[in-house]
Amino acid sequence: MSLERAPHIPVLLGPVIEALSPASGALFIDATFGAGGYSTAMLEAGAKRVLAFDRDPSAVEAARPLCQRFANRLIVINAPFSRMEEFARIEETPQGQPPVEGPFADGVVLDLGVSSMQLDQADRGFSFQTDGPLDMRMSQAGDHAGRSAAHLVNTLAAETLADILYTYGEEKKSRWIANAIVKRRAERPFERTLDLASLIARVLGPRKADGRHQATRSFQALRIAVNDELGELARGLAAAERLLKPGGRLAVVTFHSLEDRLVKRFLAARAGKQAGGSRHLPEVQAIARPSFQIVNQRPLSADEQECADNPRARSSKLRVGVRTEAPPWPPDTDLEVPQVEF
Ligand SMILES: C[S@@+](CC[C@H](N)C(=O)[O-])C[C@H]1O[C@@H](n2cnc3c(N)ncnc32)[C@H](O)[C@@H]1O
Repeated sequence: MSLERAPHIPVLLGPVIEALSPASGALFIDATFGAGGYSTAMLEAGAKRVLAFDRDPSAVEAARPLCQRFANRLIVINAPFSRMEEFARIEETPQGQPPVEGPFADGVVLDLGVSSMQLDQADRGFSFQTDGPLDMRMSQAGDHAGRSAAHLVNTLAAETLADILYTYGEEKKSRWIANAIVKRRAERPFERTLDLASLIARVLGPRKADGRHQATRSFQALRIAVNDELGELARGLAAAERLLKPGGRLAVVTFHSLEDRLVKRFLAARAGKQAGGSRHLPEVQAIARPSFQIVNQRPLSADEQECADNPRARSSKLRVGVRTEAPPWPPDTDLEVPQVEF
């Protein structure tokens, strides 16, 4: 591996590559390119080609040297992975031919959340440790009508803000925080990450025994809202289902329980197992054949060594499914994605 200078250490790299088995297929999709750790490893392990996506233009810009190194074998597209099917079909269609139909991918991998580069750049506004503009937009542009975290914090009603903090951050004190935000912004709007983080810390009091910063949950919630991360995930999983050939592998690395629950439910439902919480699932399951087989019933986690080497790995979970011969399920199959309207 030639990742010594990569700014982002790929999480669960060995198990992900083993799950995808790149040498046994031709085309793999890396839906979350980041610093290209997975793409590089897949290509080095024998994948003929990798089609990669990242919604962050700076990740795509930084991919140029890798694209040169793997000339014609690596293509990196600046788009959200919810749209990977559309872009992948265009990319796979020879010039002048009608768009390719049916599945053609041997593997799809999603490594969710933000990269170390995004977290470390204070001016992206993801961090409550270093001061920066309260932004959090991964694409720095069009996410959720382009609304930044500051826009949400300074304009939404207290009730909606509290719903966001509770639903996307599982923050139990969401109402206290939302009310304090609304009171404070009447005097002076929030513009900086540390300003918001210190208000949340004041509302919640001293840190808990786990040592995590008091703003951890709220920042997670705002980031998910700004980037519509759960909606993206649901659409990305359905796109992967349509793109994967029979026998193709889906590998998803998650970093918090909301993401993991969604992936778990998706795979359980598609594997024909009752995944609780979905209104229409029994009706769909009655007519649709299982489109995935689950590889590991329990998700894989990073071992002690990896967690010691890379603290980001601590909360990671890997779930893997193998695509069956069955057709993809209807696109509107209800996944019960937690959503706050705003
Ligand atoms: C955890 S990093 C991926 C790291 C990568 N596996 C590596 O080894 O370098 C997540 C990346 O996915 C991107 N991302 C997150 N959500 C996305 C989405 N919905 N569509 C496209 N890219 C997304 C982020 O911009 C970020 O660069």
